[in-house]
Amino acid sequence: MSSARALVELESVVLLRDGERVLGELDWVAREGERWVVLGPNGSGKTSLVSLAGAQTFPSLGRARVLGEELGKTDMRALRRRIGWVSGALLRSLRPRFTAHEVVMMGRHGALEPWWHEYDDGDRARAHALLAAAGHAAIAERPLSVLSEGERQQVMLARALMQAPDFLILDEPFAGLDLGARERLVTRLDALAHDPTAPPFVLVTHHVEEIPRGVSHAILLEKGRAIAQGAIDDVLGGDAPSRAFGLPLDVRREGERGRWRASARA
Ligand SMILES: Nc1ncnc2c1ncn2[C@@H]1O[C@H](COP(=O)(O)OP(=O)(O)OP(=O)(O)O)[C@@H](O)[C@H]1O
Ligand SMILES: [Mg+2]
Repeated sequence: MSSARALVELESVVLLRDGERVLGELDWVAREGERWVVLGPNGSGKTSLVSLAGAQTFPSLGRARVLGEELGKTDMRALRRRIGWVSGALLRSLRPRFTAHEVVMMGRHGALEPWWHEYDDGDRARAHALLAAAGHAAIAERPLSVLSEGERQQVMLARALMQAPDFLILDEPFAGLDLGARERLVTRLDALAHDPTAPPFVLVTHHVEEIPRGVSHAILLEKGRAIAQGAIDDVLGGDAPSRAFGLPLDVRREGERGRWRASARA
C-alpha cells in the first residue's frame, strides 16, 4: 500500500440520480504521484465519477474524501478552487468575446468575468508563459469565438494550470479535435505527466490512443461500477476492456512504455 497522500478516496460510494443508481457501489483511491485515465462506454459513469473527484457533487451513500476533506462535511466551494477543470461545460460557460489571455488569467481565481478580481503584472506574465508553454503564444489576443477547437482546449488547460491546482480533471478534452490538435494535446499532457512541479491529473477519454505515456493508472467503468482499476498495464492488458465494451478487443501498447492502441480482435 502506497503512503503517498490520497487526492481522492471513495469508499462504498453510490450516486443516485432520479432514483436510479448511476454510480456504485464503488471504491477508488487516487494518490499524489499517480496519473489516472477513466475509461468506459457512454453512460457508464465517467463524468459522474470525476464530478465526485472534483467536489462538484457528493455521494448519495458511502464516503468520499477529496484532498483529505469529506464531501458533504466541508466547504465545497473552497475545495473546488483547489482543483483545475478542463471540460466542454466549463468552456461553454465563458463569454466568447474574451481573449485567450483573459480566459487563462481569470483561471487564477477560477473566475468567469475579469472584473471579479484584480490582476497584477505577475498574473499577466504567468498567463502569457502558460500559453507559450502550450505552443500558443500567438493566439493570446484572439477571442475564444475565433479559436479552433484544439486551441480552445489548450487555453482551457492553461487556464486550469493558472490556478496552481492540487490536481487537474480533464473530461474528454480530445472531443472534436483533429489528428494534429489531438497529438499536440497528448504531447502537452505527456510533458505535464513528466514534470514533477506540474499537478497530477485524472483524464476521461474514449480512446486509448489518447492516453499520454505518463499515465500510470486506469479505472474502467461499466454501468456505474469499476470492472477493473489499478496499474494501467494490468487494467488494459487484461480482458476487462473486452468485457466493458462487449466485444473481443486487442489492446496493446507500442513498446514497453509506449502509446496504447485498441482494435476489434480479428
Ligand atoms: N443529473 C442527472 N439526472 C439523471 N440522470 C443522470 C444525471 N447525471 C447523470 N445521469 C445518468 O447517469 C449515467 C452516467 O452518466 P455520465 O455522464 O456519468 O456518463 P459518462 O460515462 O460520462 O458518459 P459519456 O461517455 O456519454 O460522457 C447516464 O445514464 C446519465 O443519463
Ligand atoms: Mg461524460
